[in-house]
Amino acid sequence: MTYLLALDQGTTSSRAIVFDTDGAQVAVAQREFQQHYPQPGWVEHDANEIWATQRDVAIEALAKAGLKAADIAALGIVNQRETLVVWDRATGEPVCRAIVWQDRRTAAMCRQLKDAEPIFRTKTGLLLDPYFTGTKLAWLLDNEPGLRARAEAGELAAGTIDSWLVYKLTNGKQHVTDASNASRTLLLNLQTCEWDNELLDILRVPAALLPAVVDSSGVCGEVSGVDELNGIAIAGLAGDQQSALFGQACFGKGDAKNTYGTGSFLLVNTGTEVAASHQKLLSTVGWRIGGVTEYALEGSVFVTGAAVQWLRDGLGIIKQSADVEALANQVPDTGDVYLVPAFAGLGAPHWDPDARGTIVGMTRGTTAAHIARATLEGIALQSVELAEAMRADTGLAIDELRVDGGAASNDTLMQMQADLLQAKVIRPKVTETTALGAAYLAGLAVGVWPDRPTLAKQWAVDREFEPQISADEAAAKRARWGEAVERAKGWAAD
Ligand code: G3P
Repeated sequence: MTYLLALDQGTTSSRAIVFDTDGAQVAVAQREFQQHYPQPGWVEHDANEIWATQRDVAIEALAKAGLKAADIAALGIVNQRETLVVWDRATGEPVCRAIVWQDRRTAAMCRQLKDAEPIFRTKTGLLLDPYFTGTKLAWLLDNEPGLRARAEAGELAAGTIDSWLVYKLTNGKQHVTDASNASRTLLLNLQTCEWDNELLDILRVPAALLPAVVDSSGVCGEVSGVDELNGIAIAGLAGDQQSALFGQACFGKGDAKNTYGTGSFLLVNTGTEVAASHQKLLSTVGWRIGGVTEYALEGSVFVTGAAVQWLRDGLGIIKQSADVEALANQVPDTGDVYLVPAFAGLGAPHWDPDARGTIVGMTRGTTAAHIARATLEGIALQSVELAEAMRADTGLAIDELRVDGGAASNDTLMQMQADLLQAKVIRPKVTETTALGAAYLAGLAVGVWPDRPTLAKQWAVDREFEPQISADEAAAKRARWGEAVERAKGWAAD
């Protein structure tokens, strides 16, 4: 038997999953690590802790599967995107904590750079928002004493989490990143898939810091210095959301997936051409394989599953997240209540950092059940806004949406999604699509699978949800939602 090892380095935990060649999960190991919030709006991780937890779960998953390194055909890495690590090339030690994608410390810098936004928009497909890596790197070089000089002298290396893990796994031999991760940095030219000198100049980032950009599927090194893993080929790298698109077998133009996690990330494959967005969506690299880049449009919503956690931890109206479904089903509708979970501002397509969570339409008869139902509708409606924007940008129908992530198991939410989107929602049997994507990318590179059609055949449906309300009813709800969103906007502005 042949096996693949997927390393899934997420925002709150490091996971490792062993898959067999049918794409079935053989063993999994997971470890959470500490979140650091040194100031309001700042989020940091200890890069050494990320490495240690990721290495340990990889070893543990192999042990649970009863396998040795020699049984693993290749490993693939998928990771939380945009998070920045800077380390010393001589010692391999990080120079400070990693700055996490959620960190908002560069908001002022982004505002100052606004005049240059059209250049970034055209070249990178992104917006000037603290979310992305580039301004985090510029901030570090400006604010950590001595770093700029060391960077210019070539003493330091920078990278996203994929880059850091490959560096550690290869015992410092490789400093690479894949095209999908690179496309989240504000430094990559989407058309050429190379670092762009004009963008480096604007952000004053020395090129000597940056990793080589490699294919998402292809051998980029082999593990050394970790006894239990030595010799395994590292053959797949991708940002976690692009990997989920791959793991959902969304290989054709117009194929779309939505991942419901803390936030939601909806991506549609746009083929080998960059699809520019006029709706404030992000154009991004899906993956680069054999030197050929395929692109995606992405809508990122910052708070979806986290809104359910807020019902649990903030309001205390449910004991555990899964209880939200039963509570929401106590009422047939929300009674015209809308909940906009803009706790951390609004992402795509609004990008309003000053928006705040809002509940409108409550009466004396509103109950916890209405709030729970409105929360689920709010999650679905945010994704509808993304899909609508994608339809407008691309002319693609998006008449099917493949779903994954924790909340994809909530049947009520999935039915709402189908109703409000007026499209079929499809939940696959394997919902570990992020990790599966890594296994697929790595396995393709070393010949475990011959091609993507073979993978597409493996992908199997668990359940399909068809719209059960009329298009008029869905449109009315969407319009009402639009009004609620307007009320949430700008609340925290000075
Ligand atoms: O862009 C951020 C995203 O990659 C984070 O994903 O699953 O670690 O929350 P996750």
